[in-house]
Amino acid sequence: MMKIAVCYNEVPPRLRKGEAADRISEAGSASEAQAVSRVLKALGHESVLVPVGADIATFISALRKEKPTLVFNLCEGFWGDSSKEMHMAALLELLDIPYTGSGPLCLGLTQDKARTKDLLARHQLPTPPYLLVEPGAPCPSSRDHNLAYPLMVKPRSEDASLGITADSIVADAAALAARVTYIHITYRQAALVEEFIDGREINAAIFGNTPAESLPLAEIEFRPGLLHPIVTYDGKWLEESSEYRQTVPVCPALLDTRTEQRIKDVALSAYQLLNCRDYARVDIRLRDGQPYILEINANPDISPDAGLTRAASAAGYSYPQVIASILTMALTRKELTHAQP
Ligand SMILES: Nc1ncnc2c1ncn2[C@@H]1O[C@H](COP(=O)(O)OP(=O)(O)O)[C@@H](O)[C@H]1O
Ligand SMILES: [Mg+2]
Repeated sequence: MMKIAVCYNEVPPRLRKGEAADRISEAGSASEAQAVSRVLKALGHESVLVPVGADIATFISALRKEKPTLVFNLCEGFWGDSSKEMHMAALLELLDIPYTGSGPLCLGLTQDKARTKDLLARHQLPTPPYLLVEPGAPCPSSRDHNLAYPLMVKPRSEDASLGITADSIVADAAALAARVTYIHITYRQAALVEEFIDGREINAAIFGNTPAESLPLAEIEFRPGLLHPIVTYDGKWLEESSEYRQTVPVCPALLDTRTEQRIKDVALSAYQLLNCRDYARVDIRLRDGQPYILEINANPDISPDAGLTRAASAAGYSYPQVIASILTMALTRKELTHAQP
């Protein structure tokens, strides 16, 4: 038995950027933390919830007081700012407390979809071609780029489908300029413009370290009636919306063996390239049997009903087994890195 602190971030009553509804996704981590903590207790450990609020000094003293053997790190940012997700892992390193999940460099890189794509492309891993439009910069015209319409416009560094609606797919220069401006104003960051991959959407959950394994693939099925076959914010979070009912995860995905293997190979390579640890999820779209990596989620939701849990369950792992394995992975790392000289 050991003492484990389950850390997660609280969300400010009002977000500094984005849409008001974005809070729904941000607020999910408290219930995720409670679910993980319940399992840790059932496994016989002492588990304490240590939330991160607006004041980091308060968090540090709470953690110091608890003296946990290990932190189960579920922080997805700091006080509504997802770009500070990596800072939380870095802080735990400075405090010399072992923790679950990926390290700061991996969290920082994967948060930046553009840099991640540069790395993928450099290593011949397929990802849609893209361009970035910084706030204040003019929107490039078709003469300045060779991307083929329709294009997809999204924030450079958000997750959970923030800023993704039917308007994210643009068919011409005017719609592109309008959506780029929307991203600049609402999300206060660069707009990532990439080719729209018109095809099936697959999530690859990766689990473990040496070796890492690809869990059964999941497909996000887009049911008839949906305006566009993409995971919009409403489709992901608003349970009462029609988009939600028409966006259905199916695991395992029905795929021919070759395509399935191809997807697992690129997802595993991406996981290793970005130095992901313990668990992650790679979002992929298929076109002509070729998988394109959209992004890597190095700190995905591990709630009982999350995609990663669903994939693990299709592989025969129960939720307590998932949590126990993640714990073991972090403890193994602790023994390696905290070994006596
Ligand atoms: N290039 C693209 N082609 C087709 N669909 C895309 C593309 N990029 C994003 N999407 C759609 O938008 C959703 C969210 O994009 P993603 O890059 O996964 O960001 P996040 O999940 O971090 O918000 C995807 O699940 C997919 O449905
Ligand atoms: Mg995604």
